[in-house]
Amino acid sequence: MDFSIKTIDAKTSIASLKAGCIAVGIYENKKLSPQAQALDKSGEITAALKSGDISGKPGSTLLLRKVAGVAAERVLLIGLGADGELNDKVTSMAALCVARVLATLGGADALLALPFDAVKERDLAWAVRSSILVLRDNSYRSDTLKSKKETTSGVKKVAFLVAAAKAAAAKDALAQGVALANGIDLTKELGNLPGNVCTPTYLANTAKKLAKEFKLSVEVLDRKQLEALKMGSFLSVARGGGEAPKFIILKHLGGKAKDAPTVLVGKGITFDTGGISLKGGAGMDEMKYDMCGAGSVLGTIRAIAELKLKLNVIGVIPATENMPSGTATKPGDIVTSMSGQTIEILNTDAEGRLVLCDALTYVERFKPAAVVDIATLTGACVTSLGHHNSGLFTRHDSAHDALAEELLSAGKATGDTAWRMPIEDSYQEQLKSNFADMANIGGPAGGSITAACFLERYTKKYTWAHLDIAGTAWKSGAAKGATGRPVALLTTFLMNRAAAAK
Ligand code: BES
Ligand code: MN
Ligand code: ZN
Repeated sequence: MDFSIKTIDAKTSIASLKAGCIAVGIYENKKLSPQAQALDKSGEITAALKSGDISGKPGSTLLLRKVAGVAAERVLLIGLGADGELNDKVTSMAALCVARVLATLGGADALLALPFDAVKERDLAWAVRSSILVLRDNSYRSDTLKSKKETTSGVKKVAFLVAAAKAAAAKDALAQGVALANGIDLTKELGNLPGNVCTPTYLANTAKKLAKEFKLSVEVLDRKQLEALKMGSFLSVARGGGEAPKFIILKHLGGKAKDAPTVLVGKGITFDTGGISLKGGAGMDEMKYDMCGAGSVLGTIRAIAELKLKLNVIGVIPATENMPSGTATKPGDIVTSMSGQTIEILNTDAEGRLVLCDALTYVERFKPAAVVDIATLTGACVTSLGHHNSGLFTRHDSAHDALAEELLSAGKATGDTAWRMPIEDSYQEQLKSNFADMANIGGPAGGSITAACFLERYTKKYTWAHLDIAGTAWKSGAAKGATGRPVALLTTFLMNRAAAAK
């Protein structure tokens, strides 16, 4: 899909603009947006509303052809609800309606003349960015491994109609929206690829490709190097599988050389069987998504690299599969993490924290401004927050409250929301072990919190946040697939950091 900005001045009438399709908004109570009014010289739009063919409620659409006095071939009416009530939900719904109709039209180009300036508490840039995300999300297909690709007949060229004074802001927003969508698509693609294709080596090769395309620096450590680093916890997970573990470091150094980097650490379990603590068979295929944290790190770095963001960002990915075998780690085994702390592995299915803890120790060397880890860490997080919010965990001091606020507001700005959860000493007690410094599970109560408490023990030397994306990174059921979350949250978080560093 090709996006552009088209400007209009006071002298030009919208009705004179040529396009395969022009989309305009209408309201309930048969009211027209200013753009719709401009196309209604013949009264045909008013007549269509009067006839009741479209209610004007959010989600309602009507396609008119060859409206008299309108140069565009088709006029697409989009319901926006009550006049004056245009908010982000309604705008996203309108974009989705546009996307669905455009997907069914022949190869014509489309002009979006929606009242983007009227969205409550948002600006035009927001509306352009979020519309691009919705349109691209709707046109995404996971057909890499299908021998016959779906042929999409729909509209390929979409222009946003904006006032000349807003053109510069709209163009910036367009570039941001496209870069973000490209990052999200990469994250979806990696998530949707199966465990026999998207292996640790595949993730490493993806990082190398990004490095080449965007001139980033990349380093991939293999088993021998990880042994030398004493990553006993990470390596204990990699013992069972046939695929070689990889530890990926991808750097986008767009800031000043002396500026401390923001570090993203992504869980990269390319398939999670549970190991010797084997999972049940039902739905186990979905554990190919257990590398979505890693996928979101690669997608986010792709987005900020395309935007040439002026910020130092380092992505770190511990990647391995979690398999049972004769050499796999057994329940009760005790391992020594890179930090020196020992861990009694009471459940080999709690493997995410075992790979992350060594990565979190490794990143100390970067003297980070902040570290955010992203992981499909616990089923318990899905139980507590469902599929709407990612779980956000940090310590509770002023530096961490500030980091939490940055992440929460970046989520709100993009509809890729997170919800803050507690980290407290009382939960830490659940990780006591009789035989080692800690156990890797804390019992069924508060499972997402004890998992975060485990990670917290490896992050004492910097400001840190943890995002549990088990409920948000993919969808089950008929629409099974990776969502690309939380790339929008992370990219916006980094963009805000870059703006603040100016
Ligand atoms: N990858 C899973 C978490 C998960 C489960 C994500 C379901 C999405 C949906 C993780 O490695 C895991 O297995 N966690 C266990 C932890 C338990 C053994 C303490 C879980 O959540 O059951
Ligand atoms: Mn597991
Ligand atoms: Zn897992």
